[in-house]
Amino acid sequence: MAGKKLDVVMVSTEMVPFSKVGGLADVVGALPDELEKLGCSLVVFTPLYSEVSREKFGISAEKDIKPIRVMVAGKPREFTLCSCLKPGTGIKVYFIENDYYYGRKGIYTVPETGEAFKDEDERIIFFNRAVMESMKALKLSPGVIHCNDFHSGLLPVYLSIEESDNELLKNTGTVFSVHNLAYQGLFEPDFLEKAGLDPQLFQPMSPFEFWGRVNVMKMALMFSGLINTVSRSYAEEISESEEYGYGLEGVLKYRGKDLIGILNGIDPAAWDPATDELIPHRYSINDLSGKKLNRDALLREFGLPSGDEPVIGIVSRLVDQKGFDILSEAFEDLMKMNLKFAILGTGQKKYHDLYTELSAKYPEKLGIRLGFSDKTAHLVEAGSDFFLMPSLYEPCGLNQMYSLRYGTIPIVRSTGGLKDTVSELSARGNRGNGFTFEEYSSKALAGAIGRAMDFFADSSAVEKAIKRMMKEDHSWEASAREYMKMYENARGRTGIRLTRQ
Ligand code: ADP
Ligand code: GLC
Repeated sequence: MAGKKLDVVMVSTEMVPFSKVGGLADVVGALPDELEKLGCSLVVFTPLYSEVSREKFGISAEKDIKPIRVMVAGKPREFTLCSCLKPGTGIKVYFIENDYYYGRKGIYTVPETGEAFKDEDERIIFFNRAVMESMKALKLSPGVIHCNDFHSGLLPVYLSIEESDNELLKNTGTVFSVHNLAYQGLFEPDFLEKAGLDPQLFQPMSPFEFWGRVNVMKMALMFSGLINTVSRSYAEEISESEEYGYGLEGVLKYRGKDLIGILNGIDPAAWDPATDELIPHRYSINDLSGKKLNRDALLREFGLPSGDEPVIGIVSRLVDQKGFDILSEAFEDLMKMNLKFAILGTGQKKYHDLYTELSAKYPEKLGIRLGFSDKTAHLVEAGSDFFLMPSLYEPCGLNQMYSLRYGTIPIVRSTGGLKDTVSELSARGNRGNGFTFEEYSSKALAGAIGRAMDFFADSSAVEKAIKRMMKEDHSWEASAREYMKMYENARGRTGIRLTRQ
């Protein structure tokens, strides 16, 4: 049976410009363009959430494919396969349309509470089953299926267990990218049955069991041909320490020879202060005057008084991963310094409450915007003097690279991708590109901010450093080549193989 030969089928539950929660969306929004330039033929699969504008992107149902039915938790669920071309490219993006799972607001969580959807298990099973059945309906025969995080982690399992006799898919390999190991997809043992897998597979220590529960990430790590994560340091951290491995360090060690780190890049067109349509004043290395004007606009937007004190920006999911506990602990001390904060974020309620309280207490020094706004995110990058990322762990992190491009000096905890992209500035600004600290503590964080504030007093050192960092190349090109190499190596390769009896 002849099918449509493809190099890669990429699968993700977020993708810019259609949907976004965090950096995964940026990655899947930018990496395909670079792969296409390198001659890779690929398509992408993603859900059609209610927020995605069908009109704007010209998304329509695939003409020759009738609605497809898959079984989820013993119930038939039907979906329509839709598609459009990724804007500005020849890359086909396939969307899974189903009102029951995607008609609601939110991508993974209930927007009002930040809690995971109660039927998260079903939504995962549905998406993976739907992508598999769509590939078959389209008669695709890819060299590699590239899954991203646990939401698409069942595909390697289904491929190995159920498709080993399928002419079009039996030679297809799998790549699994870990964007964040802390989110694993932990469910009760009945998950297997709901997923249409044999409940007998739930054996202690097997890929299907993790401390008495099912762990989708563990299954994905065991069944995928090759595994990568999004920076070299994070690849080391997660296979070497319990602190970062979140219980999966043993599995990652076991798969060690098949695990590599490839640093994310940034989309240089979307994040360029010289052409950015989302900021009020454009600027470049040759003329930084617009940056100052953006700073004024930022202070106005965040309800802060004008003034020359350095502004520290944050754009982040408000969750423990991002270091908000040590920032909160350091806050009273930081408020004694001559600085201002502009924080844009959304996430855990405890941080919404805490930062609302703090901004009421320090209205002249702390401005907050609780919500998700691309436009405000760009303004924070462009208008701040410093950008803070005190992460507990950070697989890659994109905002520090956006900051470098916007001449906004990053202050980061040296972990994961932050460690691989930011190094301490020398006193005169001749070396390094930011301020860093190692120990995860409020004291170390305040120390780094203190050094940054001292540095800011020397305006010629600041300008020298800014101009140097704005020239750094963080584009996808080099990393996309590494992905191409990995795909080549992954052809025909899966993890463990279990065939149906
Ligand atoms: P993560 O994926 O862990 O959230 P990254 O640094 O890789 O961290 O990527 C986060 C992305 O999400 C960046 O593009 C950042 O600008 C964006 N982002 C995070 N929170 C918000 C928000 N509240 N509004 C707009 N963009 C946001
Ligand atoms: C995750 C990580 C972040 C990374 C992003 C894209 O959400 O938390 O560090 O940059 O994925 O890979």
